[in-house]
Amino acid sequence: MGPRTLAFLLVASVQVYMIASVTDTNDFAALNALKDAWENVPANWTGADPCGSKWEGISCNNSRLISVTLSSMGLKGQLPGEISSLSELEILDLSYNKYLSGSLPSSIGNLKKLKNLVLVGCNLSGSIPDSIGSLQRLVFLSLNSNGFSGAVPPSIGTLSNLYWLDLSDNNLNGPIPVSTGTTPGLDMLVNTKHFHLGMNQLSGTIPDKLFSSKMTPIDVLLNNNNLVGTIPLTLALVQSLEVIRLDGNLLTGPVPSNLNNLTKTYELSLSNNGFFGPLPNFTGMHALQYLDMSNNSFDATDFPIWITNLKNLTTIMMESTQLRGQIPISLFSLPLLETVVLSNNELEGNLDFGASYAGKLQLVDLRNNLISNFTQRPVASKVVIVLVDNPICQEITEATKSYCIDSPTNSSYVTHQRNCVPAKCFSDQISSPNCKCAYPFTGVLLFRAPSFSGLGTSSLYASLENSLLYSFYSLQLPVDSVSLSNPRKGSNEHLELNLGVFPSSQDHFNQTEVSAIGFALANQTFKPPEQFGPFFFIADTYEPFAGQSKPGVSRKSSKSSSTGIIVGAAAGGAALLLLLLLAGVYARHRKKSAEERKNSNNGNIETVIGKHGPLALKRYTFSDIKKMTNSLNDKLGQGGYGSVYKGQLPDCRPVAVKVLNESKGNGEEFINEVASISRTSHVNIVTIVGFCLESSKRALIYDFMPNGSLEKFINKKNAALEPSRHLGWDKLYQIAVGVARGLEYLHRGCNTRIVHFDIKPHNILLDEDFCPKISDFGLARLGNRKESIMSMKEARGTIGYIAPEVFNRRFGAVSHKSDVYGYGMLILEMAGGRDNDHHDRTEDTTSEKFFPNWIYKRLEQGKENEILQGVTAAEEIEIVKKLTIVGLWCIQTNPSDRPSISKVIEMLEGPLQNLKTPPEPVLSSPQRLASYSSTASTGENLSTG
Ligand SMILES: *[C@@H]1O[C@H](CO)[C@@H](O)[C@H](O)[C@H]1NC(C)=O
Ligand SMILES: *[C@@H]1O[C@H](CO)[C@@H](O)[C@H](O)[C@H]1NC(C)=O
Ligand SMILES: *[C@@H]1O[C@H](CO)[C@@H](O)[C@H](O)[C@H]1NC(C)=O
Ligand SMILES: *[C@@H]1O[C@H](CO)[C@@H](O)[C@H](O)[C@H]1NC(C)=O
Ligand SMILES: *[C@@H]1O[C@H](CO)[C@@H](O)[C@H](O)[C@H]1NC(C)=O
Repeated sequence: MGPRTLAFLLVASVQVYMIASVTDTNDFAALNALKDAWENVPANWTGADPCGSKWEGISCNNSRLISVTLSSMGLKGQLPGEISSLSELEILDLSYNKYLSGSLPSSIGNLKKLKNLVLVGCNLSGSIPDSIGSLQRLVFLSLNSNGFSGAVPPSIGTLSNLYWLDLSDNNLNGPIPVSTGTTPGLDMLVNTKHFHLGMNQLSGTIPDKLFSSKMTPIDVLLNNNNLVGTIPLTLALVQSLEVIRLDGNLLTGPVPSNLNNLTKTYELSLSNNGFFGPLPNFTGMHALQYLDMSNNSFDATDFPIWITNLKNLTTIMMESTQLRGQIPISLFSLPLLETVVLSNNELEGNLDFGASYAGKLQLVDLRNNLISNFTQRPVASKVVIVLVDNPICQEITEATKSYCIDSPTNSSYVTHQRNCVPAKCFSDQISSPNCKCAYPFTGVLLFRAPSFSGLGTSSLYASLENSLLYSFYSLQLPVDSVSLSNPRKGSNEHLELNLGVFPSSQDHFNQTEVSAIGFALANQTFKPPEQFGPFFFIADTYEPFAGQSKPGVSRKSSKSSSTGIIVGAAAGGAALLLLLLLAGVYARHRKKSAEERKNSNNGNIETVIGKHGPLALKRYTFSDIKKMTNSLNDKLGQGGYGSVYKGQLPDCRPVAVKVLNESKGNGEEFINEVASISRTSHVNIVTIVGFCLESSKRALIYDFMPNGSLEKFINKKNAALEPSRHLGWDKLYQIAVGVARGLEYLHRGCNTRIVHFDIKPHNILLDEDFCPKISDFGLARLGNRKESIMSMKEARGTIGYIAPEVFNRRFGAVSHKSDVYGYGMLILEMAGGRDNDHHDRTEDTTSEKFFPNWIYKRLEQGKENEILQGVTAAEEIEIVKKLTIVGLWCIQTNPSDRPSISKVIEMLEGPLQNLKTPPEPVLSSPQRLASYSSTASTGENLSTG
């Protein structure tokens, strides 16, 4: 898929969804079987054409079902065998339907095209059918947190495309299958990155054969099973391993010393086994951050000094490991150290953190040792020190009671309220971090192997919140905010956090939104920050679907009054309204005089007009407007704030007349805004020549731009139809610079300072010489932009131009940098969008990738040719590269990482060599609902082999 296709999908995907079809009869019959078997199917599963009438949760391609995603729907019943007729199905996600019971039918093996089978957190039982090995295209297999029993089917070993295998938290028993001459086994999964088999009842040994140097897993989780025997020496051959959890088994024997060869492993947990022999020496495992060897039967030994060589350690857990002697001072100068748990040993002597102990320390637990003295240092306030049951605590004094008495550890964290007063909510609504009452989608996030252990590091939770928000934003889900609370060490050493996801457009999510959020979390589309490691999510049942279970609950406006803007957004029901209001705030830096304010009270428009002195533009009546546009006959287009018609002034000058949507606002604002627009004058800004204001009828009259909008020239679909529309790279470059100049003028102008907030190709008009003119600025506060909100929800493309902070102020303040973001998307689209690539996969609605990530990866991997797509002239190559690099700088998530628009001009006009490669533009890539995009975005190579 070429960049042109990608950009096309980015902008025009909405068209793809429009293609209607008539559902295949077998698929229809199968869906009906599901419908009969389940309670609580979506209300709109009616009629005889699921594809054509778009049943909730399904999507089709050419009348065949390709995906069923019904996460968190409250489905009840069993999975009927008829599902096997959906032979084109690629994605099946039924996660978090707690009442979905029964077994996984063996006929599931007929779904030969299935790529994602995601059944997390249901109530399925019985054995996993061996036929699962027939799903040769499977990439994601997540059956975790169910009640599956029986053996792990050896046939899973044949799934050579499998990337993610999660069978944890079931009742699986029997041995871990490995291949023999005649039967397959898990050792064959050389491309699988994630082996999650923990929390089952697997027995037998960990076979030597399971591991080999051919494998490339990132994590192997076998914790909390009944495995016996020793750690196979072959484990050390798997150089790619980052996380190894063998804790909670019945393993014995000495720990092999060759584990030192695993230099990428950051978490190693061997705790709660029967290991004996000498305490292992892991000096070579430089990457270790989290080391847990607790509760084993190692030979008694002095505290191992080699630990102090592992500079990245955050966590040392060595409870009951027969340690004795003095704890070395140097231990505490490990720079990242957070947690030291050495309880139930025979450590003795003086405890001294030394003068240079690390500032990240949060817990030192030395309960039940032989410590007799403690050199008190001016210790940072947060460290909890536990010396209970040591000689030093035989006598509890004022001086020793802080570490000699157990006090409940308190590591509470709750997402902060943004500058607002929590709303008082009715019934079971909850006040969001933005102080809006709503029904959040809730559940528990469980991290299987975090690299940290200090639960009190709120910056980590804040970064988790940001990455969640960004992920939902990227998936274009109407999420207002997320809340995290109550971090805790759960059973099985998981870090658990309560998650609440709050809706932005209404007080509840609809079914489509809930299942999309569920899918993002169940299918690992969301990637937490690195430190959190592998995770899973268990959703609570989400009740309040529209018109369903809460008919009596009427929507309430928020009680919070301290933040008018946010309340407005809540009441208005769309994040965009927030944008509009903020746009209003920012768009006008001119202060109204007291006099003007007084005028607004009596609404004397003529006085207001008078205040602005002679306006350079003429005021027309609505009947003038009708005359000049031939009764609004020649419609040029439909913009965010109204319709645009072609017209002619009495002197035959051609004009474009924008008739604004009806608005109830008073005329004063309109005049003030028109005055502000009329004071702009720049070659790259459309010129306004007149206006109309007649009660609620408002119109703006602009110079006519014969070449229409830039959109027509870079929208691939149009360009493909009309090759004459290719403008040439030099022209595109000039357009890019022109638009930047126009924006710079708006941002820096001395008469006005205007943030546009809606930079996109549709708003760049081209005159007869293809000189670009920015239009539609300063209108944010004038119109009722209902349509535009609609079109934004549906046209998933438009949203791509809007900066993240406009949706959610977590990402920073809304400012002129928000325009820079839109501008960046615009020039990226210009750079990537022009070429003709006929390998369109537009029918494949699930395979969109986020164009900027695609382009960034190409740049990073030196695969520039894929961006250039056949451009060969040196000057043209330079233009494409410049647009690409500058574009990527402009779309940085953090507004302060984006250049100002003046800097952008400098970058575009300066030499290419001066441009630095930008950082990857997003916190977590905006994955689409597809396995390939989500796996590709991890940066791990799926297509190995
Ligand atoms: C069913 O719901 C989906 C998602 O809300 C919607 O797109 C579709 O148009 C609905 N179909 C019918 C027949 O109402
Ligand atoms: C560890 O790796 C080195 C080379 O990387 C190899 O020579 C050595 O044999 C390995 N040790 C073990 C015990 O596998
Ligand atoms: C641990 O291993 C390293 C490197 O092999 C060695 O230098 C060191 O002496 C060992 N330490 C102990 C306590 O055995
Ligand atoms: C230690 O951590 C730093 C920062 O995360 C990382 O860059 C470095 O590679 C790590 N060291 C090792 C040996 O993995
Ligand atoms: C105990 O620690 C204090 C300082 O806190 C030190 O002066 C004293 O010598 C230590 N006593 C022993 C026996 O180590």
